[in-house]
Amino acid sequence: MSHFGSVQWLTWAEFSQGRLVGGFCDAVMTRASKAGIEEVDRRRIKRGWGRKAALFGCSPATLGRFWAGKDLKKATLIGIFEAVEITDWSRYLIESDDRVLTSASSSKAKPDPISPPDKKLWDGVPDYPIFYGRTKDINLVTRWLCEDRYRVVALLGFGGIGKTALTAQLAEHLAPRFEGVIWRSMRAAPSLADFLIDLLETLAAEPIEPRPSQRLMADLISRLNQHRILLVFDGWEELLGGDYGGAYRAEYRDYGTLLADLGQQKHQSGVIVTSREKQADLTLLSTGIRSFSLPPLETMDAFQLLNRKGLTHFDRAAAERLVALYRGNPLALQLVASKIRDQFDGDINKYLQQDTILAEDLFMRTVLDQQTRNLNPVERQMLCILAQDPEPIDREALGVRFTTQLATPISTSEVLASLERRALIDRITEAGQVLFSLQPVVRQYVQRYLCA
Ligand SMILES: Nc1ncnc2c1ncn2[C@@H]1O[C@H](COP(=O)(O)OP(=O)(O)OP(=O)(O)O)[C@@H](O)[C@H]1O
Ligand SMILES: [Mg+2]
Repeated sequence: MSHFGSVQWLTWAEFSQGRLVGGFCDAVMTRASKAGIEEVDRRRIKRGWGRKAALFGCSPATLGRFWAGKDLKKATLIGIFEAVEITDWSRYLIESDDRVLTSASSSKAKPDPISPPDKKLWDGVPDYPIFYGRTKDINLVTRWLCEDRYRVVALLGFGGIGKTALTAQLAEHLAPRFEGVIWRSMRAAPSLADFLIDLLETLAAEPIEPRPSQRLMADLISRLNQHRILLVFDGWEELLGGDYGGAYRAEYRDYGTLLADLGQQKHQSGVIVTSREKQADLTLLSTGIRSFSLPPLETMDAFQLLNRKGLTHFDRAAAERLVALYRGNPLALQLVASKIRDQFDGDINKYLQQDTILAEDLFMRTVLDQQTRNLNPVERQMLCILAQDPEPIDREALGVRFTTQLATPISTSEVLASLERRALIDRITEAGQVLFSLQPVVRQYVQRYLCA
């Protein structure tokens, strides 16, 4: 699954001396064979895409060169093939010297096991061998980081929606366009200074003296400007927990401007940050930052997940209802699929007929407990109002119900915004009207555990 087979492997010394400035992958010029162009054409027609569709993840001018069979950067060409899910694209590439790439040089090949592991900066990236769909999301983030040159992209969403799995996929997909990838989980939640020192030591391959965070930050930006590195900060919500959605915990307050700084200051690297909660520094009007709430897994991809969990023969309409009930959340779908397989003879309809949903499941409860642990009293109150009614409600009606229950007036919009940052609210647009509701699993959890 890795792209590293096509990449020149370098030593740490070469890396830290700046040999990689400019990006080696970008230097290789390649074009697609006629058969390759035809295959891409066939697949894009099947998807209903135009020849210059944005979903290819590159500019119309680049696509023009592709269709004309002209030379392109190899990484760009690979991106076009992968956009239409051609994984064996190496057979369709012709290098500028007319030599067709052999499968041994295919970037899909696994890294050579005898290559010393320290030759390429690929640090801490987890492996998710099973991954379905999300091509559009991969292309969108690729475009933001590689073409539009946003420096920070935040992937947001409810626990289990697939932020980490998608980011691991992105790391592999983007690897040819970066000189290295450093992945850090925020679960251990170090102090800001320790976090910066760890990043700098990984980049410099030598010990870094403790210094004030501001100086460490300046050094980091300078490194990220010398080299094009992809940094991943996974599980940023660990640092959050103030009294409104997106606020930092007191002990991590100094992280509060890190993402905004990485977005605003000039460097040539990219940062992907995943979080269940939208951090307050992303809501500032920062340049260089994009954020993205992960949509549900698409139905056909969700079906593959159900299949893999042992639901092999199912009623399609029932399976569609199940996927919608859990809002295409891959974690919830895997949990519920196992339950249906073991306790309902694999019959989705039987499961749907009973009225408990996953809020009872221990694993899902943990996710919901974590997702709601920092709620303040007014947020709880609003969730309880929303949980009373399965029908979506508009802001004005919600405001009336909400403010009549409060001792001190507080803006409905502010509380809604805070809950949205915590990924606890469904926002639906119907006939031009914005409506709010809770997804079923959240509604049941709120009714049972927050409003008793
Ligand atoms: N596209 C996918 N195809 C197959 N499995 C997936 C996909 N996305 C997620 N999964 C699986 O669903 C589960 C939850 O995914 P993941 O851990 O990425 O969610 P998350 O949004 O990062 O959750 P959290 O907020 O708890 O960190 C994992 O078992 C993962 O392997
Ligand atoms: Mg995660």
